Amino acid sequence: MVIIRVSFRPFCSATLRRMEPNTLIPAIGDLANKHILLGLTGGIACYKSAELCRLLIKQGATVQVVMTEAATQFITPVTMQALSNRPVVCSQWDARAPNNMPHINLGREADAIVIAPCSADFIARLVQGRSDELLSLLCLARPINTVPLLIAPAMNREMWAHPATQRNMAQLSDDGAIVLGVGNGDQACGETGDGRMLEPAELLEEVVAFFQPKPLRGQRVLVTAGPTFEAIDPVRGITNLSSGKMGFSIARAAREAGAEVTLVAGPVALATPRGVTRIDVQSAQNMLAAVMERAQAATVFVATAAVADWRPAQAAQQKIKKDGSGQTPVLQFVENTDILATLAQSARAQSGALFCVGFAAESQDLLANAQAKRARKGVPLLVGNIGPATFGKDDNALLLVDAHSATELPHASKLHLARQLVAEIAHRLQK
Ligand code: CTP
Repeated sequence: MVIIRVSFRPFCSATLRRMEPNTLIPAIGDLANKHILLGLTGGIACYKSAELCRLLIKQGATVQVVMTEAATQFITPVTMQALSNRPVVCSQWDARAPNNMPHINLGREADAIVIAPCSADFIARLVQGRSDELLSLLCLARPINTVPLLIAPAMNREMWAHPATQRNMAQLSDDGAIVLGVGNGDQACGETGDGRMLEPAELLEEVVAFFQPKPLRGQRVLVTAGPTFEAIDPVRGITNLSSGKMGFSIARAAREAGAEVTLVAGPVALATPRGVTRIDVQSAQNMLAAVMERAQAATVFVATAAVADWRPAQAAQQKIKKDGSGQTPVLQFVENTDILATLAQSARAQSGALFCVGFAAESQDLLANAQAKRARKGVPLLVGNIGPATFGKDDNALLLVDAHSATELPHASKLHLARQLVAEIAHRLQK
């Protein structure tokens, strides 16, 4: 780590640390050095597994595909071999391995086994410990403490809701498998409901999350994100350029780190990170109310939102019309409550039960502005960034400021920075 001491007027005692970029920004994906055994069982969702295979590889994983006979009715091993760049194994009698034991070799090589799609029948087979075909056999033969089993069920909604399936799912979890859940929506059979396999991108997010360290396990993290919208009349309002991407990345990173996460989001068109509870709000007042309702349960609050400082004193009930006179309307503004400062002054924050982190979107003089803002808001940690340089983008650079020092997190993807920030928060919680 490179430590650079600099003097900044009027904060000449500040220490500016710069994290060494090479150690922080992985050149390759989130699954670098991971070997995934991707198991396919019989279900129409097999077509999505081709995309999942591509996504896993794009994130740096090597993928060994194993298919049941039923899976080969839905997608060919040729497709999966071409995508994974490895021969697909479909039989326990496959004699290519010198020891003729694919059920032992394949499981032991893997960092994780992901069964996607996992049919109702295959779930029942796992529960019973059946072993009369390769995939169930290698799941049974896997070293249970070192080779995790992740399950992506896929089936018709009635099959999913059936007590037998639900009983089997509960048993699978008890046996140590990680059930990734199901999606809701239109099914191939024409019915609508729960039971669809999760989308490939959702499954990838779950697999990536699984491998992340869990320093926030047991913490409850509340995050605000995005802009707010302050209505002038029913069709107009005041907002800002915040995209919400940084806050959503922080919510995702906190969940990956094992926290229970609630995300209070202003009006943005972003997908909710997997496993995160999302509350959509419009105005700063809505955001304040949503945050206050949940703050009692939180142990960490990260205020990423670009909350409007002012709102029109009175939103017009009807659209404000031009009256032809050329006169412009006069708007009166009132200041919005500072959500972060309110929480930072709460008894829980003062007693150390709630750790508050603020953001500062500045256009210049980042260090001085961030330090002044940290002191003004009364938070132990404030994250500065240059707003115009990052609004709407997928990357950013951050400056972490506390009472004694400032640390630069060099330019990287917002998700990567969010993971670094989460690690820093976890470190401070342990002190
Ligand atoms: N914040 C908040 N509620 C507000 C205004 C800001 O919770 N009503 C939070 C933001 O989420 C951020 C921090 O306060 O974590 C700083 O926000 P920013 O807009 O950068 O600063 P302001 O307090 O608005 O100060 P200024 O506009 O003067 O820079």
